Amino acid sequence: MSITHLSKKIAKRFLTKFGYEINKIVPNRHDFHGFRLYRYLKDDGSFDYESYKRIQMEGNERKINNIWVREENIAFLSDYIKKLIGAPRFGICHGTRMGKEQEWFRKYLNCEVIGTEISPTAEHFPHTIQWDFHEAKDEWIDATDFIYSNSFDHSYDPEKCLNVWMSCVRTGGLCILEHSPEHGPSGTSELDPFGADIVQMPYLILTWGKGKYGVREFLQAPSKQEDHEYLCFIVVQRF
Ligand SMILES: C[S@@+](CC[C@H](N)C(=O)[O-])C[C@H]1O[C@@H](n2cnc3c(N)ncnc32)[C@H](O)[C@@H]1O
Repeated sequence: MSITHLSKKIAKRFLTKFGYEINKIVPNRHDFHGFRLYRYLKDDGSFDYESYKRIQMEGNERKINNIWVREENIAFLSDYIKKLIGAPRFGICHGTRMGKEQEWFRKYLNCEVIGTEISPTAEHFPHTIQWDFHEAKDEWIDATDFIYSNSFDHSYDPEKCLNVWMSCVRTGGLCILEHSPEHGPSGTSELDPFGADIVQMPYLILTWGKGKYGVREFLQAPSKQEDHEYLCFIVVQRF
C-alpha cells in the first residue's frame, strides 16, 4: 500500500470516528436529480466523445487483467433467466473487458451470447466485439432475450444508454444491471462517469422508461467481494 493511500485511510478513519467524511471533488462533476454524472466537455462546452473514448480505452488497458464478474453470479442469473422467461436464444453483455460474462452465460445457457467492449482489446477475447454500447446494431432490435451489464456506470448518458439497451430487448425480455456501492455517486470519476444510489435506481429507470419498461425486482448476488456492503442485480423488464 502506498504512503498516500495509507494516509488517506488513516484520515478517513479518524474523521469517521468524529462523525465527518471526506469526499473527492471530481472536476466536471454534475449533480442531477438523484444521480451524479461526469461530463466530457470540449472548450466550447459541447460533448467531447473522443475524450470519453480515449479515457475508457486507457482504463481498459490499465486494468486488462482485472475480472469483476463472478462465475457463481452468472450461474445464478442463468437459472433465474431460464425460470422467468424460458430458454433464451440470444443475449448481450455490455462492457465486458476479458469477456468472462459471455463465456459463462454461454456455458450455463447453451445459447448465443456476445459481449461489447469499446476498447480494441476486444479482438483478443472470444465472442467479443469492439463496440460502443450506446449504439445498437439493427439485428439486435427487439431480438435480444436478455442483456447483462456490470458497466452501466461507464455510460456518459445513462438515459440514452438504457433506452438503447431496452430497444434491443424483446417484449418480456430482461436487462440485468449489476449494482454495488461502487456504482453509487461516490464512485463517480472520469472513468466511471455515472453514479446513482441503489435506492434512486428504480425512480430513474421508471422515469427514463416512460412506461415502456420497468424494474421487476432486485436480486441479492450470491457472491460478492468481502468489503462490499452489498452486490445486487436490478432486473429491468420490457413491457
Ligand atoms: C468495470 S469494467 C468491467 C469489465 C467486465 N465486465 C468485468 O466484469 O470484469 C468496464 C468495462 O467496460 C468497458 N466500456 C466502457 N465504456 C464502454 C462503452 N461505451 N461501450 C462498451 N464498453 C465500454 C471498459 O473498457 C471496461 O473494460
